[in-house]
Formats: sequence, structure tokens, C-alpha cells
Amino acid sequence: MSKQSSQVELIWSAKENRFRPEPCFLSEDKEKSCSFKSNEISDIKAFHETLDLKQKVIPTFDNMLIHGENLLALKALEQDHSGKVRCIYIDPPYNTGKTFKHYDDGLKHSLWLSFMRDRLEILKRLLADNASIWISIDADESHYLKVLCDEIFGRKCFVDEIIWQRAFAPVNLKKTLSRSHDTILVYCKNPVNFTLNTLPRHNKQYDSYKNPDNDPRGAWTSADCTVGPVVKEKSYQITTPSGRVVFPPQGRCWLFSKERFNEMLKDNRIWFGKDGDNIPRVKKFLSEVKNGVVATTLWTREECGDTQEAKREIKALFSEEKNPFDTPKPERLIQRIIHLASDPEDLVLDGFLGSGTTAAVAHKMGRRWIGIEAGDHVYTYCLLRLQKVINGEDKGGITQDTGWQGGGGFKFYELIPSANTKDKP
Ligand SMILES: C[S@@+](CC[C@H](N)C(=O)[O-])C[C@H]1O[C@@H](n2cnc3c(N)ncnc32)[C@H](O)[C@@H]1O
Repeated sequence: MSKQSSQVELIWSAKENRFRPEPCFLSEDKEKSCSFKSNEISDIKAFHETLDLKQKVIPTFDNMLIHGENLLALKALEQDHSGKVRCIYIDPPYNTGKTFKHYDDGLKHSLWLSFMRDRLEILKRLLADNASIWISIDADESHYLKVLCDEIFGRKCFVDEIIWQRAFAPVNLKKTLSRSHDTILVYCKNPVNFTLNTLPRHNKQYDSYKNPDNDPRGAWTSADCTVGPVVKEKSYQITTPSGRVVFPPQGRCWLFSKERFNEMLKDNRIWFGKDGDNIPRVKKFLSEVKNGVVATTLWTREECGDTQEAKREIKALFSEEKNPFDTPKPERLIQRIIHLASDPEDLVLDGFLGSGTTAAVAHKMGRRWIGIEAGDHVYTYCLLRLQKVINGEDKGGITQDTGWQGGGGFKFYELIPSANTKDKP
């Protein structure tokens, strides 16, 4: 049993056997590295200052696109990048038993657990103190992965799980249930003072703010002034301006003590309705609410896209491909994760890059990024996709929303076995 988890542990066969890979180093392939070039404006920074971007994006050129087995790549990154990554998103093979066009997804259960364990342990070391890791998975392995992650990151570092609606239409061939969601497990590196960014408020959320009593503090909306369960000191009678005596509904009490309620009343923060006859509500001023809203754990396809949207994005980028990448994530989903978990210029890492979504989205959002992909689709998808992003030729996904017009660059790396290991048997 590991030292970290003293009471509960996931056991699987050959858990103690660890794969010890030969060290590798990252060798840049300059021919494949890419940077934005403009004939008219040579100074890229000056060029970007002329752009009307919704968020100021400072283009960077030292992003890393790595071709190779991620365990080796992560080990190679450890020395320079430990404690430096603000947001890790991974979308590993879900172990569904299927064979996709670009990769197989059917390991023995115990092998899959070892595979994930070995990579998650290194990923944890790469996280900065204020960072988080977001892991896409579905019900074939999500519960095992949760326990495994508790063991690796610590139960205290579990932030939450998100349910993302990946599909809408039921698959009628299924005889039981048609799975329409993925889970995203979220862990932080250090739970002390850990926070996430909030989501921007939509105009619709402002619609309920009005100013029917011409309050000089501006528009406000009213909120419930009661709470459950009942606390005796907060269960007192209130007389409305119309003279009616009211009590909190059964099983509830007022939100405030009597003393605090009277202060609020004096400050014109209590609303009894237009005629002064309703049960009291508390006024919430627009000028006092936080700019953003806290994200919930249920992410719908309307908010974040679904698998069909992701496939359309890939088709738009690679119209010539007859069999596009099977399992991409929509850019809006990754945008939300990166928005919540990082700020511009932070480093974002994806160790299972697939078609390159995380890198493309991070780039458009002004984050620095590292993407690792073992398959040869790193050349046919990731490389081409990111070149299009940099050259301003990718008009899809979150391009319009971010105001992205091109810029920045990346270095392309291959993994090469370290010279000093060559002579070993
Ligand atoms: C589910 S896909 C990721 C899809 C991606 N999120 C996207 O939006 O396109 C998983 C990817 O992980 C890659 N992969 C699997 N095992 C790997 C390994 N050991 N090292 C690096 N990449 C790996 C697969 O080749 C595949 O492209």
C-alpha cells in the first residue's frame, strides 16, 4: 500500500511493476517549426498592437509541439518544466475496447491503470502550485480513474467532476442506454486558496436587473430573503410597509438576524414588492455583483459544443480528408477549461493532443502551450492545424469569439534516445 493513502487503495495486478523508460531528449526539427511571417510588418508585436483583439494576446514563439510517446516526452520535460504548468488538460484513450482510425483504445484494465498512473504521476510534478489538471473520461473507466487520481493527487485536491453533454441524439442500436455524456475530473495541485476564474455574465443574466424604486445605487434584482433549516434567532415576525405581519415559510428562517435585517431595511436594501405588501426580499445591486459567474458542473452542448461540432470543426480545417479524426473535442469545450484554469501567458499542456485542439485553442487564447502526440497524425493534423492557426487561416472554432487573426509560433520536436543510453544492452 502506498504511503499517501493509508486506508483505501485501488489494487490491480502488477500494480507494483513500473515501466522504466530509457531517457530521451527533445530534438527540434527546425523544418517543421513554424512562426508567423508578415511581409508588410516585420515587427510582430507592433502588428499585434494594431489588432482589435477582445483579449490582448501576446504572441509567443516558444510553444512546443512534440511527436512521441508521452511518458518519454513528459520525463524529458520534467527537468525544465516541473512546477511551471498552470493548466493540464488530457483526453486519454478511454479504454472503450474500440479501434479508432488513428489509435487503438483497448488495453487490459490493469494495464490501462498502470498506463494512466505512470503518466499522471509525472503530470502532477509539472503542475504549478496554483494549477489544476482536467481529465476527460467516460463511464467505462471514470470511477477507477477517480480512485486512482485520489491516490496520486490526494482526495483533498479533488475539485469536482464535470458532466459534459457530448451527444444529443440517442444511438438507437443500443439495447440499454445511449451514453450522451463524458466526465471531466478536476484536481488541483494545492487546495489551499485554490480558485478558478469565473465565467463571463451573459446579457440575459442582466435582464432581471431593474430599478423600480429609482434607487440611486442603480439597477438591482431581488433575491430570496429566507434560508433553511430553521435557526431560532432568525425566526421573528416582520411587519410589511402595508401593515401585514409575516413569518418565514415553514422549515425556513430569515437570512439575517433581526438586528441585521433592521440595518438592511434602513439602508433601503429590503424590497416588499411594488405595493409594500409582499414577503421581504433582499436587493442585489448590479454595481455590487461580481463580474463573472461561478461555473457549474453541468456543461451542455449549447454552452460548450458536442462531438458533432468538434467533427465539423475538423472537417472545415481538413476538407480534403475523407476519414477525419475520430475523437476530437470541440474548441468551445477546451476554451472553457482553459479560461477557468489559466490566465493569458500561462502554460497549458496536453499530453494526448489528438488532432491538436488544446494547442489550437490555447494559442488563440494567448496562452503558451505544450502538446504531445505519439501518432503520425501529429504531422497530418496537429502540425497543419497549428500552422493554419498561426497564419490566421483557421476561421473556425473559437477564432471569431477570441478575435484571433494569426501570430506567434511553435517549435516542433522529435524524441531522440539519450546518447548515453545507446550502448546499454
Ligand atoms: C482521445 S484522443 C485526443 C483527442 C483530442 N482531445 C482532440 O481534441 O483531438 C487521444 C490521443 O492520445 C494519443 N495517445 C494515446 N496514447 C499515447 C501516448 N502514450 N503518448 C502520446 N499520445 C498518445 C492518441 O494517438 C490519440 O490521438
